[in-house]
Amino acid sequence: MARKTPEELRSHRWYGVADLRSFGHRSRTKQMGYAQQDWQGKPVIGILNTWSDLNPCHQHFRIRAEEVKRGVWQAGGFPLEIPALALPENYMKPTTMLYRNLLAMEVEEIARSMPFDGLVLMGGCDKTTPAMVMGALSMDLPCIFMPAGPMLRGFWNGHTLGSGSDSWKFWDELRAGNITENDWQGVEDGIARSWGTCMTMGTASTMTSATEALGLALPGSSSIPAADSNHARMATACGRRIVEMVWDDMKPTAFLTQASFDNAVKVAMAIGGSTNSIVHLIAMARRIGVGLDLDRFDALSRATPLLANIRPSGSTYLMEDFYYAGGLRALMERLGDLLDRSAMTVSGKTLGEGIAGAKVLNDDVIRPLDSPLKPEGGLSVLRGNLCPDGAVIKHSAADPRLLQHTGPAVVFEDYNDMSRRLDDPDLEVTPDSVLVLRNAGPIGGPGMPEWGMLPLPKKILKQGVRDMVRISDARMSGTSYGTCVLHVAPESAVGGPLALVRSGDLITLDVAARRLTLEVSEAELATRRAAWTAPAPHYVRGFGRLHAREVTQANEGCDYRVLEGTAATAEPEIH
Ligand code: FES
Ligand code: MG
Repeated sequence: MARKTPEELRSHRWYGVADLRSFGHRSRTKQMGYAQQDWQGKPVIGILNTWSDLNPCHQHFRIRAEEVKRGVWQAGGFPLEIPALALPENYMKPTTMLYRNLLAMEVEEIARSMPFDGLVLMGGCDKTTPAMVMGALSMDLPCIFMPAGPMLRGFWNGHTLGSGSDSWKFWDELRAGNITENDWQGVEDGIARSWGTCMTMGTASTMTSATEALGLALPGSSSIPAADSNHARMATACGRRIVEMVWDDMKPTAFLTQASFDNAVKVAMAIGGSTNSIVHLIAMARRIGVGLDLDRFDALSRATPLLANIRPSGSTYLMEDFYYAGGLRALMERLGDLLDRSAMTVSGKTLGEGIAGAKVLNDDVIRPLDSPLKPEGGLSVLRGNLCPDGAVIKHSAADPRLLQHTGPAVVFEDYNDMSRRLDDPDLEVTPDSVLVLRNAGPIGGPGMPEWGMLPLPKKILKQGVRDMVRISDARMSGTSYGTCVLHVAPESAVGGPLALVRSGDLITLDVAARRLTLEVSEAELATRRAAWTAPAPHYVRGFGRLHAREVTQANEGCDYRVLEGTAATAEPEIH
């Protein structure tokens, strides 16, 4: 590959030209204390930092940004740190998913409008990863993703605690009267002990792992715990590497292929990854015209064994254990020829070269191919008259006895209706009932909140039951578990069949056959459809209105129509 000359750098148009505009750019850079030697003839690297005081998962990003800069300086680049919207999973309401595409847009427009030759994308908390990758793929500058890394294991009273999963588990135990308020306080103190992302195999670690497998993060980078000093050195390595990528003009579209995305999907399956990865990877692929749909997910899931024994699909281990067991490189090496090892990565080496020789150090955490946790990946795509455009279930985190089940529906109109009636002692519900939540999709939620793991009614919990079939057009957190059918498409708010279900209707779930069936005649459904009216919109102005107008359904990735596709991002005129 021919190396770029300094005059061929994109930033040259801002800094290197002998005109009044460039004079302005240079004098204003000098205003910040930089001298010409700092930038002249060097790649300008934008370090997009999603740090905020309200994002505990990215709390170390102020320090990490300095470490990335150190790498950029070492390699002869000029680093500039730019803040980008933080999407703190826990705090943003109604859901960070409402803002994923806003961050994607921000990343693309920051990159487009400013003098950057290459980008380091600092993210990790759930939606920040797909958002930053989506924007960067559309902009198509050389870029490297720096994963935030998982936090340390949680700990309370002799128990290891996992993000998300254990909050729900102990909350159910509290409601069932099995633990005290004091115990619950101890869980609160011990469940999040360091900076970094959730340390179960939730959406964060699923997406950072998938992004590494895709080829956009350095080999091994996604598994390093945030608090480990190796994480700091990895940040510096990202800074060094991006400078080389600029000189080599290594843009994402130059090396990402269908095989790269298949690798990402297979890794998401082999790690028992979050259902959210389906929506995100589809949206990412569509940004560069790679064909990835639900059927491809299901096919790749069936062909990929689940090897990572990490909660919530596994029973015991967390991301810290995964790192000590060899991490993602070792897992990918173990997948062998199931991955396309010739796929190119940001390291400048193929995927195969980047993982060669990586060893699994604990066969119980990363299982051998001949004794996987499950012979197939953890996710299945369902079809049927209740979900004409598909639905998703993470069967690896479900009670096996419910994977083939028929039961009467108990329908909740929306989240508030569910909250009001769920614990009502008069609610007609048995452990065989199928809980249905509607108006929780991309438009109905809005933003398709993670409401898909519907809580169980108190009276069912008191019977000792801990799982039921639940169906919604919502998503569910990657750290959730249970027999939850998600992402029903089309969603109820646009008149999908979910809108037509009535309490008492029989619903059949058959995961082996990949079917979800509402046992109601087509004639009866037609009558109900004719009587259906759309719910009132959530927003009459502002970003929410834009969202409702532009967002696609779950099976299409929930991107905005105006952002999808492969048309080149127009370079700005520089006057
Ligand atoms: Fe940030 Fe889970 S809340 S990764
Ligand atoms: Mg999450």
